[in-house]
Amino acid sequence: MSALDNKAPGMIDPQAAAAANANPPVFDAAFQARFAELLAWRRDVRRFRRDDVDPALIEHLLDLAQLAPSVGNSQPWRWVSVDSAATRDKVRANFLRCNEIAAGAYQGERAALYARLKLEGIDVAPRQFALFCDRTTAQGLGVGRQTMPEALDYSVVAMIETFWLAARTHGLGVGWVSILDPQAITTELDVPAGWKFIAYLCVGWPVEQHVDPELVRHHWQDRTSAGRDVLSR
Ligand SMILES: Cc1cc2nc3c(=O)[nH]c(=O)nc-3n(C[C@H](O)[C@H](O)[C@H](O)COP(=O)(O)O)c2cc1C
Repeated sequence: MSALDNKAPGMIDPQAAAAANANPPVFDAAFQARFAELLAWRRDVRRFRRDDVDPALIEHLLDLAQLAPSVGNSQPWRWVSVDSAATRDKVRANFLRCNEIAAGAYQGERAALYARLKLEGIDVAPRQFALFCDRTTAQGLGVGRQTMPEALDYSVVAMIETFWLAARTHGLGVGWVSILDPQAITTELDVPAGWKFIAYLCVGWPVEQHVDPELVRHHWQDRTSAGRDVLSR
């Protein structure tokens, strides 16, 4: 039995943990190569099939996402499943308003190219989630966030990446939508006070698979070496 097979999501029974700790897994060269492939083939997906996603698969991915790192073990991520047509309409209207403003920042050819980009899958994605950070959580007892309270927000992002990769291992696509008014979506989703909006995720089976990002394929922005250099001090 794996140390992950028991107890609540992300929690490990101390006995199982002790047994597992005595015999840690070896991630061999074959696994490393497959993991590199996973990273290369994770995509931001905006074109989804309409087929349902088995709720058990979503539950499994939510369990895996519980293994993500978080400041002080605070686990500040809060999920809202956006299911009703009425609420999705509000999110879509929110996106359209924000995207119109965003489009206004470009001129000429760039504006024309921007208008052709597909930047969300809200109409079609069978599952949609808003992710919030509970900035009021007491879990973690403040460790690591006294001088940087935003470390809570970063923890939610770390969880999202975990979920994104886990979904991809099942062939499930995830698309991140940030062209939204965070205040409006917080009000529209009627979440508890103190929850900060972090991300809107569209989830479903992708129509197509690509090793190159959509924005590269559509000549918006190539990958570059930005961020690859490491300063030495
Ligand atoms: C914080 C964040 C916000 C994003 N917001 C959007 C968005 O609003 N619309 C969109 O189409 N893609 C969005 N993306 C996806 C990026 O455009 C995408 O990750 C990037 O183009 C690289 O493509 P890849 O994820 O397929 O490698 C977002 C990604 C991140 C990490």
